Amino acid sequence: MLYWTAQNETKVPKLGFGTWLIKGPQCIKAVRTALEIGYRHIDTAQIYGNEAEVGEAISASDVDREKIFLVTKVWRDSLSSENILSSTEESLKKLKTDYVDLLLIHWPDPRFPLQETLSAMQSLVKRQKIKMIGVSNFPVELIEISKKIAPELICNQVEYHPFLDQRAILKAMGTHNMFMTAYSPLARNRVFKNKTLQKIGEKYSKTAGQVVLRWLIEQKNVVAIPKAAKQKHAQSNFDIFDFKLKEPDRLILGSMHSQNQRLVDPEWAPDWD
Ligand SMILES: NC(=O)c1ccc[n+]([C@@H]2O[C@H](COP(=O)([O-])OP(=O)(O)OC[C@H]3O[C@@H](n4cnc5c(N)ncnc54)[C@H](OP(=O)(O)O)[C@@H]3O)[C@@H](O)[C@H]2O)c1
Repeated sequence: MLYWTAQNETKVPKLGFGTWLIKGPQCIKAVRTALEIGYRHIDTAQIYGNEAEVGEAISASDVDREKIFLVTKVWRDSLSSENILSSTEESLKKLKTDYVDLLLIHWPDPRFPLQETLSAMQSLVKRQKIKMIGVSNFPVELIEISKKIAPELICNQVEYHPFLDQRAILKAMGTHNMFMTAYSPLARNRVFKNKTLQKIGEKYSKTAGQVVLRWLIEQKNVVAIPKAAKQKHAQSNFDIFDFKLKEPDRLILGSMHSQNQRLVDPEWAPDWD
């Protein structure tokens, strides 16, 4: 496993397991399998409706809770001070744990002042309910504002794969000693259909998906969380620690963003630029 290391020496596994759309017994099984394969970073959210199943899988596994980097996200409607506190307590109950490693604001929402939301999250850190605070789907401008309120902000989780230009956010992550979690890192299956990526994969006896995941985690401040309900997909996505991309291939992947394919852009999304 590769890790991103925070200034306080906290290590974040660079490959995590996404759980969006995996629910019920299938979720318990998928997360247990992921832990058996070797994943130590699990990504969930209040809105996914699967925190209880993620918690069940973690409790039932042989892996100690302290060895797992567990992330959840507060939904848009719960960003008032009061609701941050109560909804996080609820998440902890469902996840059957005393703390999460990282709590994220799932989407920015102008109905709630960032000062209020981030202060409530800071109080959760003081009470040891969460270890670190972060955000998701925040453009650079909102990162700058948030950093002034909460300098300890550590993560921005955003869509990132070769078909989307995220250089501005990556630059901000570097400036502020933060990491970016790349969501939809496989562009929701689209990377597998790309001929250029397939060809690069052949050179390393890897799939297009493995090449893309390797490219992501080789970037300094990037962590990736592919989702895989199927065991063979989860295993394949984990088999990326036995090769390194050569510079010319890395450059090809880094030049594909002109396709500008943003896949996640709901009506409540912020102005991205
Ligand atoms: N913060 C946010 O707003 C936000 C938004 C979107 C996603 N996320 C997080 O990011 C995670 C990943 O993003 P995502 O689910 O949108 O997309 P993704 O990880 O890019 O793609 C998931 C899709 O790829 C398939 N797949 C995975 N590995 C494969 C393999 N080796 N071969 C063939 N197909 C494979 C999966 O199939 P199977 O499931 O059938 O195996 C699934 O259909 C989510 O689960 C969630 O945790 C966060």
